[in-house]
Amino acid sequence: MSNRAQIGVIGGSGFYSLLEGAEEIDVATPYGPPSDTITVGRIGDRSVAFIPRHGRGHTFPPHRIPYRANMWALRSLGVRQVVAPSAVGSLRPELGPGALVVPDQLVDRTTDRVQTYYDAGAVHVSFADPYCPSGRAVAAAKAREAEFDTADEGTLVVIEGPRFSTRAESKWYSQAGWSVIGMTGHPEAVLARELALCYTSVCLVTDHDAGVEAGEGVTHEEVLAFFAKNVERMRSMVRDIVEGLPLDRPCSCGDALDGLTLPFELP
Ligand code: ADE
Repeated sequence: MSNRAQIGVIGGSGFYSLLEGAEEIDVATPYGPPSDTITVGRIGDRSVAFIPRHGRGHTFPPHRIPYRANMWALRSLGVRQVVAPSAVGSLRPELGPGALVVPDQLVDRTTDRVQTYYDAGAVHVSFADPYCPSGRAVAAAKAREAEFDTADEGTLVVIEGPRFSTRAESKWYSQAGWSVIGMTGHPEAVLARELALCYTSVCLVTDHDAGVEAGEGVTHEEVLAFFAKNVERMRSMVRDIVEGLPLDRPCSCGDALDGLTLPFELP
């Protein structure tokens, strides 16, 4: 299994047609099954594994996604770099629906998710910079080429969900200077770091969150409809990102566990 794919993509079910020569495989992990069968195929000369984050038919809401199983399964297939598209709300008036944010920072506002593989031993990974700098540079360049209104940095706040934020919460996050808000970026990012994977988040703004405008506040229908309208453009940009990632990993993400004593062997 361990050399089936170089790059992983975790995204919505609209991304199924991303891969050429696709094959479905079931992967077992010590953390149970991932969100769904994993599709392995090619984008150009790169081997790629795709996991639908919420499962086919949206089985898992954000707070119930088997995050540990998903990241473990990707690594066990050989994946070392992960591209993670998601829908987010905007916390800034200048980032309207359709903007593409490649965050460089993350704020964890989740409350009830297991966010580590290391329940034994003393493994404390560095997480000051949660995202892969090489992946971010490629993602921002490809988003611009695809003519997205692109922000190549920004802070993603991840809330527990499944509800959206109140106006007061949204204002608070916005006043703190944070950029966008979503429900799935954590613990994905930290679990990737704990497996020494590169992880790049690409966030499509689908709505102004509750605090930015005086409207009715965001609805799930609005998010789904906006994402569906843009899925073809997103898919094409994700393909470009996958083809542009440097396979030699010039970043330090692969060194994240150097010097630490792990309680088990990585897959
Ligand atoms: N996903 C898309 N829009 C969102 C919002 N406003 N809040 C949280 N998650 C989102």
